[in-house]
Amino acid sequence: MKEVILWTGAGQIGMAIARRIGFGKKIIIGDKNLDNAKVIAKIMKEAGFDVVPVEMDISSRESILNLIAEGQKYGEITALINAAGVSPSQAPIETILKVDLYGTAVLLEEVGKVIAHGGVGVTISSQSGHRMPQLGVEIDEQLATTPTEELLSLEVLRPENIKDTLHAYQMAKRCNVKRVMFESIRWGEKNARINSISPGIIVTPLAIDEFNGPRGEFYKNMFAKCPAGRPGTADEVANVAELLMMPEGAFITGTDFLIDGGATASYFYGPLKPAE
Ligand SMILES: NC(=O)c1ccc[n+]([C@@H]2O[C@H](COP(=O)([O-])OP(=O)(O)OC[C@H]3O[C@@H](n4cnc5c(N)ncnc54)[C@H](O)[C@@H]3O)[C@@H](O)[C@H]2O)c1
Repeated sequence: MKEVILWTGAGQIGMAIARRIGFGKKIIIGDKNLDNAKVIAKIMKEAGFDVVPVEMDISSRESILNLIAEGQKYGEITALINAAGVSPSQAPIETILKVDLYGTAVLLEEVGKVIAHGGVGVTISSQSGHRMPQLGVEIDEQLATTPTEELLSLEVLRPENIKDTLHAYQMAKRCNVKRVMFESIRWGEKNARINSISPGIIVTPLAIDEFNGPRGEFYKNMFAKCPAGRPGTADEVANVAELLMMPEGAFITGTDFLIDGGATASYFYGPLKPAE
């Protein structure tokens, strides 16, 4: 038996994190696109990691439970990396809400039920949620605490109240941060920790779809005018994840870490501030 890491979303950010913490562990990679999981599993195996690719859909509770059951065949689940997601240019509003918002909430809930004592998790939110104005105490609390099966029926998430796919994505990512706060209390009952990371523009296939999508110029302008003056890399996100997931991060739980080259700061108080 080995310690097991559940990892959803066989993309660049997930892989960079898994390479930091995955040595000596059994790693189960779940992805909706099994080919992605297989390609990444091959790269990881050739670098000495013990990886099993699995087809799964984070927007289905049944599929999440199957992933957990697959992991439990090998030992106790001691870590979760959730890097599955779809971006505003990749999917319609309903899919973004189902995958990025509902799926993440269910994953945190279900893994929280089985995580080992002292276990740890990270979920990837986004800087995009930080650019949106505050939603207020009441809506924040709804996003944090509404039972998962009722989340998508919230007034604030009803189709007539979501402007476009970017708005859906921002609501999903805001919800991720709130859900992490809520779940950290339950994870904490087992001395387990859960945090989120909100990356800015990180070059991955998902970001490249955005550069080539309807908001391409907006994103290129964003990284050109942020204090860092460039997009980030998945390895830089992994630097943060390593801190959060290793014993050095033992006092960090229920929080979100923004890593965006200063884009949010510039959006509020610098050259990226939208015209009135
Ligand atoms: N790249 C960026 O600039 C950026 C910035 C902020 C946040 N993020 C977030 O980081 C996470 C990972 O993105 P990435 O940039 O590494 O993308 P990526 O495209 O490299 O990987 C995402 C993976 O998620 C998988 N996926 C999509 N829907 C799924 C589903 N329903 N169930 C299971 N797997 C599914 C895809 O098949 C893909 O393999 C996403 O949540 C994304 O929103 C990315």
